[in-house]
Amino acid sequence: MNRLIRLFGTSIGRKLVMAVTGVLLIGFLISHMLGNMTVFQGQESMNYYAAWLKKHPFLWVARAGLLTIFGLHVVTAISLAIENNAARPEGYRKKSAVAATLSSRYIVVSGLLVLAFLIYHLAHFTFGWVQPDLYHFVDEKARHDVYRMVVLGFQNPIVTGSYVAAMLLLGFHLHHGARSLVQTIGLNHESYNTLIRIGSNTLVAALVIGNCSIPLMILAGFVDPAAK
Ligand code: HEM
Repeated sequence: MNRLIRLFGTSIGRKLVMAVTGVLLIGFLISHMLGNMTVFQGQESMNYYAAWLKKHPFLWVARAGLLTIFGLHVVTAISLAIENNAARPEGYRKKSAVAATLSSRYIVVSGLLVLAFLIYHLAHFTFGWVQPDLYHFVDEKARHDVYRMVVLGFQNPIVTGSYVAAMLLLGFHLHHGARSLVQTIGLNHESYNTLIRIGSNTLVAALVIGNCSIPLMILAGFVDPAAK
């Protein structure tokens, strides 16, 4: 335990924390997206999945784990950003600012905006504060009607627009995150570069397109709110 705490005190230790928590969060994003895609199969499929998740004995363990991983990711990112900023001499700071890519310069800002989206998203679908009139539907089997909540919710162009904008931002954040993760875990070898770039770009694109397809297909009228 002491060793772990000492490792966290070093820069490489904190980069490792970012890498491990980043991979776990991407795992969550993939499974969350696949789960949400049950909306394309209809009400029964999505409400069954949502009810199964809520009834699962490990729900609170998973929630606590996710919160810990997410908290570690945010706090470590902020501490690394403060450290990087303080370590740079004045001249280097100017030079590096010019050389840095758009994504690495704005990584902290995009991360904080994703955090803001997450708060809005929980207020929307988990607590039902954004569209409260859509939160209390119950289906024929007395389950929370997550399907109707989502389908009717995304019929509002402002809600859909805000999700699409957030997913593009998430893609921007993940694009940079994937590149620095690869550097941290030491795969940044010339011969692997192209393969790794294609792999991480494909994963990020799949997440952005997959997530955006849900609100956009609903807004375009491809998902029937009355479908069983
Ligand atoms: C278009 C994209 C997305 C859709 C349609 C969506 C949909 C949903 C829905 C319907 C719920 C509530 C489930 C329920 O109460 O049964 C939920 C919860 C949640 N979503 Fe999303 N989501 C999306 C993107 C995201 C993203 C990008 C993140 C993370 C950055 C995220 C993180 C969460 C979390 C943490 C919860 C709470 C899970 C819990 O209750 O334990 N979602 N989402």
